[in-house]
Amino acid sequence: MSARRLAEDSIQPDAFVFSRDNAAWAKKRMALYPEGRQQSAVIPLLMRAQEQEGWVSRAAIEAVAEMLAMPVIRVLEIATFYTQFQLKPVGTRAHVQVCGTTPCMLRGAEDLKHVCQNRIHEHAHHTNADGTLSWEEVECLGACVNAPMVMIGMDTYEDLTPERLEEIIDAFARGEGGSVPVGPQNGRQFSAPITGPTTLRDIGATKPKKPATKMAEPAPGALFVAPEGAPDDLKLISGVGPVLEQKLNAFGVTRFAQIAAFKKADIEKLDEGLNFRGRITRDDWVKQAKALAKGGAAEYRKVFGKDPR
Ligand code: FES
Repeated sequence: MSARRLAEDSIQPDAFVFSRDNAAWAKKRMALYPEGRQQSAVIPLLMRAQEQEGWVSRAAIEAVAEMLAMPVIRVLEIATFYTQFQLKPVGTRAHVQVCGTTPCMLRGAEDLKHVCQNRIHEHAHHTNADGTLSWEEVECLGACVNAPMVMIGMDTYEDLTPERLEEIIDAFARGEGGSVPVGPQNGRQFSAPITGPTTLRDIGATKPKKPATKMAEPAPGALFVAPEGAPDDLKLISGVGPVLEQKLNAFGVTRFAQIAAFKKADIEKLDEGLNFRGRITRDDWVKQAKALAKGGAAEYRKVFGKDPR
């Protein structure tokens, strides 16, 4: 493993402060541990600092050390040991992590690296000219069955070709990363055979017939019954772009109040339909939709401290 050092002084910020929400989250996180064991929260706090700023600066390390009453050197050791921590600024719109471990390498990871070199920067850990994109090679990210793949933020993009990766990078460069479907990029469902399921295909035949119901049925191709009335601008929900909004509408999801009332089963159904794997929960669509349904942008600002996108 190469030596990992903090970024040069010239780009280190003077100070680091957790946002109000993140500070409250950190306080709760530290309280999870028995009195006197708050230092156990060091990795989650560093990770949250990275999520907030995009990378871990010296000021962030010092701030976390102070919060946890730890010597700064101890926090520095952790931040420089784990490669998950970015020690210099990464792209503001996307940091592309290309898996270069054997299964991905055998399935074309080198070509994906060349795409990154051509479209972003010749060298890993350097941003492109406008600072929006960066890349690095990482070890196995656990999606080997759909190799080759990359990870951007919390999402994986699998079964990639160089051409498809170029399209994805272009979408992120335009600020439209939220519109790119995550997971397999070749039409495969999760890790099922590309030709479709080959086993348990007759399982439906043994299922009992559904009792007749008088409840409204979703339109053909939809997953939910679309509420009456004009659709809301779902793009106000962070994580929803124009393409995703179209898909949601096609699935019968058109209103903030509808998303605000989603139960676990609804989220799972939509996750599966959109091939999202947890993103709805991660981006907290339900909380965002509740605020928007209750009081529009003003309520959103009150709850989240920022404008809806
Ligand atoms: S080898 Fe690439 S995800 Fe495992």
